[in-house]
Amino acid sequence: MRRILLFVLPILIIVSVAFTIFGIFQVRFEEEKLIDDLKRKAKSVAESMDLSVKHLLITADLKNANYLVEKFEARERLQGCVIYNKKGQILAITKKFTDWKNKEKPYLKEVLNNKEPRGELEKFKEYTVYSYILPILDDERKILGLVEVIHDTSYVFTRLAELWRRISITLISLVILILFTSIFLNRQIFVLPVQRLTEWFRHFQKGEIDDRHPIKEKGELGKLASEVEQVALSLRVVRRTISDEALIRLQKEELWTEEKLRNLIHAKLGENALFVVSNREPYMHVLDETTGMTKCISPASGVVTAIHPILCACGGTWIAHGSGNADKKFVNSKDKLGIPPEDNRYILKRVWLTKEEEEGYYYGFANEGLWPLCHNTHTRPIFRESDWQMYKKVNQKFASSILEELPARNPFIFIQDYHFTLLAKMIKEKRPDATIALFWHIPWPNPEAFSICPYQEEILSGMLGSDLIGFHVQNHCNNFLDTANRLLESRVDTEKFSVMRFSKETYIRAFPISVDGHIRSRSFNVEPIREIQRLKKEYELEGKIVGVGVDRIDYTKGIVERILAIDRFLEKYPHYKKNFVFIQLGAPSRTHIKRYHDLMGEIDEIIEKKNWKYLEGGWKPIIYLERHFSADEIEPYYMIADFCIVSSLHDGMNLVAKEYVAAKKDLSGSLILSQFTGAARELTDAIQINPYSIEDFSEAIRLAIEMPMEEKRKRMENMRKVITENNVYRWAANIITELAALKKM
Ligand code: F6P
Repeated sequence: MRRILLFVLPILIIVSVAFTIFGIFQVRFEEEKLIDDLKRKAKSVAESMDLSVKHLLITADLKNANYLVEKFEARERLQGCVIYNKKGQILAITKKFTDWKNKEKPYLKEVLNNKEPRGELEKFKEYTVYSYILPILDDERKILGLVEVIHDTSYVFTRLAELWRRISITLISLVILILFTSIFLNRQIFVLPVQRLTEWFRHFQKGEIDDRHPIKEKGELGKLASEVEQVALSLRVVRRTISDEALIRLQKEELWTEEKLRNLIHAKLGENALFVVSNREPYMHVLDETTGMTKCISPASGVVTAIHPILCACGGTWIAHGSGNADKKFVNSKDKLGIPPEDNRYILKRVWLTKEEEEGYYYGFANEGLWPLCHNTHTRPIFRESDWQMYKKVNQKFASSILEELPARNPFIFIQDYHFTLLAKMIKEKRPDATIALFWHIPWPNPEAFSICPYQEEILSGMLGSDLIGFHVQNHCNNFLDTANRLLESRVDTEKFSVMRFSKETYIRAFPISVDGHIRSRSFNVEPIREIQRLKKEYELEGKIVGVGVDRIDYTKGIVERILAIDRFLEKYPHYKKNFVFIQLGAPSRTHIKRYHDLMGEIDEIIEKKNWKYLEGGWKPIIYLERHFSADEIEPYYMIADFCIVSSLHDGMNLVAKEYVAAKKDLSGSLILSQFTGAARELTDAIQINPYSIEDFSEAIRLAIEMPMEEKRKRMENMRKVITENNVYRWAANIITELAALKKM
């Protein structure tokens, strides 16, 4: 509409100005014509009275004079008639016009003297009249008196107003006509062809360009579309070649690298891009209200740590909730942006949620319901019907957002986590040709625990819309199969490890997630080394034993147990006082939930209490840094730490454990790892603990410190080998290979 106005407005202004000027001239002309007409009429009436008035004046016949002035009363538009004597005094006047007597008439004298007729417009009361005065002369041209004829002029102005009205109506009709014609022409010439072209581009984007969607546009737009079609063709040819080359290269490489994964994906998915869905986005734009500056941060999330390097390696589209308060400023018209922001390797599509949706779906159902349901930490799950309704609504919102993006044939969608249990089924209903894998990043409970969820059937059947469901460890797979077997009408095949429901088969497999690690490079970067020097100085770490913990502040992470174990360790081994520092990095998380809010207070309090207990000089045993840290910021802490504590009470995998091992390139350092993490199955060289047993836990700290260097190195080497071989690229490759085999891709 704005564009039409821009185009039409000048035309309308020109037409209106031209019409107004024309109207002014037309009205002037008409006005002159009508006044002339009036003058002529008044003159002829006055002249027709000349003889009779002359006689009356000579004979001083007042009676007939009155009779004469009344006689003209009935004449059209004639208002009055007045007869004056030679002194200018009124002898007779039309009765209904007697008020005229009171009007000042300075012009009478002039006419009596000049003996010339006079016709002028005169103001009378609130209106204008036309007065024509004819001097009555005797035969010797001596003045006998005057006759004045007064005409009503109001009809002239009525006629002129009517003329203006007609001109205005014509102008308005013309403006409307121009507007409608412009809208119509704009639609025919511009909007419709562009709409058709946009539609064609949409099919083109999805790879649907075939006989069903030919380019219909002719002219310049048609040429543009045809150019794009040529580019697409070349791109397709190049991709095909790449995927053939990828297959050949794949067979040569041994360790899983970014490149090898890229080759695998090209070989298996060919032209089809990868679509990843998660709640948490890999980058958030956040406005720092104190500085007024916008920061781009990578959130503390296992999903982000694992998936980001995969998409960087292979490209594709990641669809996630745009939860940063400045996120909307950084997307294009389709809510997308290139990631990483400084070196676009893949596309992030942000999905917007209202406050109510975020509250019900994320804080409520996902994190107060499913999260405690799946973690064995004795925090009671809360299931509210309103949260469930929001959870369903948001799953549907994500489904629609994904469906918009999918290419024409065989798309591959990789869903992350417990936020989207219903998504696979929703997508499959519209796109049965889609291949869908769901990865569950948290533990899966046993059937008894899961059965307390009031929406168990819908959740299980939603998840079984996937072709493949992945868990970190075999035990979670077993729990899931048991759950499906016991709580859902389905057939579980323990040979194939699959669940069959309504002739749809879903395979259940364990894929232990990992980190990228860059473990093979043994070189140190300059930046972390500088940062280490800074940290040593700031926290007076030189010559001390340094421990580190890196966590989202969550009750599943066993942070309080960790502090209690450090306390017990110092109680038992006081000679470590002043020689020991534990640095805890804690990223605030889900703080709107009361349990999390309370936990933050609990941690603050216990750290404060224990620090006070041991405070000596400037030394305190625990340094607590409660804020968000980026991966680059965390690395120097890992590098500086003689040991790292991961004391989760229950954890799907825990990538901090693997990140610590990956960062320890010099093989120094020990990992204290909870036996209740998925990572404990792989990192068997870690010092494993039961975080509930504070006594054993404190002993593990002592062991980590006092273990002979040779043994530490050996253990670290073994753990690094495990991570090198089972890095995140292998994890992704395993999932894709498994799917390809199952779906015969
Ligand atoms: O798998 C658990 C998870 O979804 C991981 O992404 C991460 O460890 C954590 O939860 C992130 O939590 P949130 O996205 O709620 O901050």
